[in-house]
Amino acid sequence: MAFMGGGGMGGGMFGPGGGPRAAANPGNGLPFAGIAPEMQPAVEKLLAIEPEHPKPDAVFHHRPPKRPKLTLHWLLARQKKPLLLSLILVIIETVALQSGPYLTQLGIDRGISRHDTAWLVIPALLFLGTVFLTAVASRSRVRWTGRLAAWVMNDLRVQVFTQLQRFSLHFYSEEKAGVIMTRMTSDIEVLQQLLQDGLAQFAIQGLTMVIVTIVLFTYNVKLALITVVLIVPIVTVFSLWFRKASDVGYNKVRDGIAGVLSDLSESLQGVRVVAAHNRARHNVVHHRNTVGVYRDANNYTAHITAIYGPGTDMIGILGQAALLLIGGHMVLDHQLTVGELTAFILYLSAFFQPIQQLVQFYNTYQQGQAAIYKLRGLLGTEPGVPEAVDAVELPPVTGDIVFDDVTFGYYPDTPVLRDINLHISPGETISFVGATGAGKSTIAKLVTRFYDPIGGRVLIDGHDLRDVTLKSLRRQLGVVPQEPFLFAGSIRDNIAFSRPDATSEEVAEAVRLVGLSGLVERSPDGVDTLVHERGQSLSSGERQLIALARAFLARPRILVLDEATSNLDLQSETAIESALDILLEQRTAILIAHRLSTAMRADRIVVVDDGRIVEIGSHTELVNAGGQYATMYETWMRRPDTADVH
Ligand SMILES: Nc1ncnc2c1ncn2[C@@H]1O[C@H](COP(=O)(O)OP(=O)(O)OP(=O)(O)O)[C@@H](O)[C@H]1O
Ligand SMILES: [Mg+2]
Repeated sequence: MAFMGGGGMGGGMFGPGGGPRAAANPGNGLPFAGIAPEMQPAVEKLLAIEPEHPKPDAVFHHRPPKRPKLTLHWLLARQKKPLLLSLILVIIETVALQSGPYLTQLGIDRGISRHDTAWLVIPALLFLGTVFLTAVASRSRVRWTGRLAAWVMNDLRVQVFTQLQRFSLHFYSEEKAGVIMTRMTSDIEVLQQLLQDGLAQFAIQGLTMVIVTIVLFTYNVKLALITVVLIVPIVTVFSLWFRKASDVGYNKVRDGIAGVLSDLSESLQGVRVVAAHNRARHNVVHHRNTVGVYRDANNYTAHITAIYGPGTDMIGILGQAALLLIGGHMVLDHQLTVGELTAFILYLSAFFQPIQQLVQFYNTYQQGQAAIYKLRGLLGTEPGVPEAVDAVELPPVTGDIVFDDVTFGYYPDTPVLRDINLHISPGETISFVGATGAGKSTIAKLVTRFYDPIGGRVLIDGHDLRDVTLKSLRRQLGVVPQEPFLFAGSIRDNIAFSRPDATSEEVAEAVRLVGLSGLVERSPDGVDTLVHERGQSLSSGERQLIALARAFLARPRILVLDEATSNLDLQSETAIESALDILLEQRTAILIAHRLSTAMRADRIVVVDDGRIVEIGSHTELVNAGGQYATMYETWMRRPDTADVH
């Protein structure tokens, strides 16, 4: 990213002809002087094997696409070829596998009983052949189902992630990050398991049961009927119990893992607060309990599986013993050959395995369905600030903002803003002041349409924000939020975030203007120094400066600075004053500030109190009016740390 952004060579390193282009690349220090002749053959060799990298064809629309409801069927129907191939391979695999007992019978009845060596060799060779066929079919099947699962999961992950990009802030304040992570990890993994192996196993075992039942009845109806009467009812009751118990177990496991992930993500994010308040031990205890719940759930499933698995095995073996007794008598009465009895008993054990596997599959299936249900909920959730079907592009604006009788609340019955009427003229700098929690940031969030008002309208250049596309709106807006967020990457990447195509000079200019030069010089790799996740390796003032530099680079028509300089020392703030003047020049700007020295620079000051606008006017007007602002100003002036600045 740094290279592409820095060099401004969006088309890639090499031209369409495939040959290296000796272009000057001012962004990365020395100009690019071409490839040394002795390295040319190596470069050509490399180019010959270098695959083409087409541009990603990703498109993003704020409006969710119309798609059918997410179901297992819909997921599979999109992958017809691997599905069909897997099915054919499953049939080959199962039939080949079930020929074993029949070949054993041939060997015994024709080979051993008649002392015919040829009939010993033929079944053995055929057996070898079927083993080989099963192995080949099984290998291809696993590859195809693997591919099927990989693609379905790929599509699903991209869809879910894209959907997460559409949601408004409301969604993220309601939903715990850990729970969203669970959707993307364990829920999707369960589905993957189902598609990769579960469905194929279901087909194999189901088919095996059908084949074995038919075979058992064709061998000997009487013996088959005895088997059915003796064994099937017990196994059915046992399996029904297991199904019910494992349902309960699965729900416990699922809630357990969601709990563990949520707790983990929260304590990782809050690690500083945890350390500062000596809550480490408490956290360990809490996490131990959460993990304990998960462990108990897993113990429970292990417990019931331990009853069910060996239990069905035992029923199967007892069944075989009974058959040996009854079948043995039939052999003695010449109703059955030894080979047939052997095949029958072998088939019977082949009848048992699928039952166990099918019940296990039922579990995976249940889990998969629950995951689909959750993901369907996520994919079906409408974004909080939907883009209208007939939304138009917001043309380049002059920056005229109108709040027309706006009411807003994060929850409909507790309004946070009431009767907001305000007209901000193009190019005007307006500042919002007021007590903590008065609603200043909330007003700013309505301008950027992070939320929609409950009553009234917000207009920019006469366009209701709900009627324009989100992209065209946000392209013209710049926001420096109260808590700026930095991504893991270089300082340059973070600054150029607002305009990835910015040149190195432009980035450097932004760095200089906001007063980040000192930091860049101190950092080991200059502007390419990596900052840690969330900017943890920087001070909060430095993070604010980077966020300001982002805004400089984007040069939007309308700028919202929410306490953008609150973490700077007064000296640094004074130092970037002129830069702010450049930034605010001819732009409509909303400044939110507790520090009145910042607020005073605005053309007009709006005093917000408990969600209402109580005063509007210039600094002098408001001081002379003797209202809330005048009181605030007086208190502020009397503070010893501000006295020497003014
Ligand atoms: N995501 C949210 N969900 C619910 N309530 C919220 C949310 N964000 C803010 N609030 C509430 O809305 C009110 C106004 O908050 P806002 O952030 O606009 O205050 P502010 O004036 O910017 O305060 P500060 O000076 O501390 O930044 C507060 O009472 C706050 O508790
Ligand atoms: Mg605020």
